[in-house]
Amino acid sequence: MKTMFSRQDVKTMPWYNEKLDADLENELKRRKITKGRFLDLGTGPGTQAIQLSKIGFDVTGTDLSENAIQKARDLDGRINFMVDDILNSRLEKNSFDYVLDRGCFHVLSADKRNQYCRYLHNILDDNGLFFLKCFSIKETKLDYGPYRFSEEDIKNIFGKDFVIESVIDTVYQGTLDPFPKALFTVMGKKK
Ligand SMILES: C[S@@+](CC[C@H](N)C(=O)[O-])C[C@H]1O[C@@H](n2cnc3c(N)ncnc32)[C@H](O)[C@@H]1O
Repeated sequence: MKTMFSRQDVKTMPWYNEKLDADLENELKRRKITKGRFLDLGTGPGTQAIQLSKIGFDVTGTDLSENAIQKARDLDGRINFMVDDILNSRLEKNSFDYVLDRGCFHVLSADKRNQYCRYLHNILDDNGLFFLKCFSIKETKLDYGPYRFSEEDIKNIFGKDFVIESVIDTVYQGTLDPFPKALFTVMGKKK
């Protein structure tokens, strides 16, 4: 089956951002986090994984799309890019200190969200942090795209398994103009 990643140049995709996500960068600086095992979940074009690796993290990038993973591997052969479905993940328990999801969670249908939380909780280390960027319900101009969330939605979906440390209003930097409105959430694991 032809997928978006086999048909289209990744640089034209709406979420393409060659730089490290600005909200993630600020949060890492603020917390003085400079090393550890980092998962870029739903890595797509692999840009976030590549930037995290450049800073010094030990990075794995996963995606459901074989084409995306193949293209990402061609860009940087030193990163562990692998095909993996977060809804049936083969990643080991507690295997990451940090997980970034920049645009995967918000494409999953509502009936998959509990399953997502279960796998995420399993692979994140007990003292780990999860960084989530998703579309906000305040994004009302685009008439297509992923699901939108309020802060309350995030608390309802993740609050059972995760401690929510912060949720901020921001934008989703990519190739759209203006950038769509987004939320950036930082969570730890409930033990
Ligand atoms: C909006 S794109 C974001 C890509 C990348 N995170 C970025 O910021 O450039 C969402 C990505 O999630 C991937 N994805 C969707 N469902 C997935 C799943 N169940 N498991 C792993 N990846 C998934 C898609 O293939 C796609 O590459």
